[in-house]
Amino acid sequence: MSTLTSKAFGPNFHWGVSIAAAQNEGAYLEDGKSLSTWDAFARRKGKIKSGHTPHIATDFYHRYKDDLLLTKALGFTAFRFSISWARLLPDGTGRVNKQGVEFYHNLIDECLKLGLVPFVTIYHWDLPYVLEKQGGWTSTMMPKWFNRYVKACAENFGDKVKNWIIINEPLSFTALGYMLGKHAPGKKGLDNFLPAIHHAAMAQAEGGRIIRELVKGAYIGTSFSCSQIVPHSQKEEDMQAANRMDILMNRLFLEPTLGMGYPKEESFPFLRKLEIYNKAWRYTDALQFKFDFIGLQNYFPLTIKYNRLIPIINASEVKATTRQVPHTDLGWEMNAEAFYTIVKKIGLYGGIKDLIITENGACFKDKVENGMVHDERRIDYFQNHLKAMLKAKKEGINIKGYFAWTLTDNFEWNEGYNARFGLIHVDFKTQLRTIKNSGHWWREFLT
Ligand code: GAL
Repeated sequence: MSTLTSKAFGPNFHWGVSIAAAQNEGAYLEDGKSLSTWDAFARRKGKIKSGHTPHIATDFYHRYKDDLLLTKALGFTAFRFSISWARLLPDGTGRVNKQGVEFYHNLIDECLKLGLVPFVTIYHWDLPYVLEKQGGWTSTMMPKWFNRYVKACAENFGDKVKNWIIINEPLSFTALGYMLGKHAPGKKGLDNFLPAIHHAAMAQAEGGRIIRELVKGAYIGTSFSCSQIVPHSQKEEDMQAANRMDILMNRLFLEPTLGMGYPKEESFPFLRKLEIYNKAWRYTDALQFKFDFIGLQNYFPLTIKYNRLIPIINASEVKATTRQVPHTDLGWEMNAEAFYTIVKKIGLYGGIKDLIITENGACFKDKVENGMVHDERRIDYFQNHLKAMLKAKKEGINIKGYFAWTLTDNFEWNEGYNARFGLIHVDFKTQLRTIKNSGHWWREFLT
């Protein structure tokens, strides 16, 4: 066992796990909830591996008490979950669903009772389908709809919840859902991507302002996926390709939030299109919000080379599997040094107050054998990443917490139930939970 201890990170450090409504709750049409884009997307053939749906997921809606007890038993002191917009406002806007409010109150109360500090994500990718039918994130109405939803969250839960994350990874759901068609709602092309980016960036800043106004003593953040981008070679074309990827992955949403407007780079025409399409120069102020913390989420670094066949970005990934470097069972490179590098890079941006690692974790094909799950590779992953985080923290990066992704195996978007990220194994036929060795490792690390 490593000599690394949680005490080294100092007192008042938030140690938590993160989950998300669409990946865990299930109960997809229960107690007044309407369909989300993911429920609808799952009905389309071939969109989700093995034909899986999020309809039952980990049945967290009914099992939250047990899952919170497990979280507590593993030694965590914080719990990050998201609210399902379609459960709170089944019509997207307008009337509030009382049973939805009740569920989240029960969940929050249970967290507080167990001494788990709730961190609530307002939007983790599950838009009410009724709003998607009216254009979803491509619609100019979207910021308005989002404001209504944020208000409903603040008014109903603001007395008990102080830690808020406005949006989870805006790049992921806009790129995968509105450009590449791989995630819900499965739309493609620039005409969808450009407005979706802008509306998400606007909604994020305005969401922060609404929480600031309505929730006394709120600690407000928003979460970005960030990755170190490494050029495949020192050739100019590879370096440029890596730079474009860096802009998309690490700067596109962060810089407007910090008041810098969208990134500007003559050699990347996409940025100009984004400006023109959305008349974005008018909105620099509206896109800005002084978040109390930035949530940094990291899973892997990317090695990037020039590829003229890939539209817009003219770049593609040289996969970890091809380069034969250590990787998870999803083929994601495992490289803690790269985590350190990106934490330092983001942490040193001017204007960021606190940094919280709101997601980090690894996927393996875990199996239960004689009541145990031997996921030693996941333990290594966490140990190495925690050491890297400690190094960055000691060098002055203001890191206030770390949330492991994730508590239990769950519905991993278009991978369905095939990709297991949990510290706790779930048998999706019986919903039986088995703590993996990594879960036991966390308990020793934290207690
Ligand atoms: C993140 C996402 C999570 C989870 C994780 C692992 O991008 O926020 O919901 O799916 O990736 O893939």
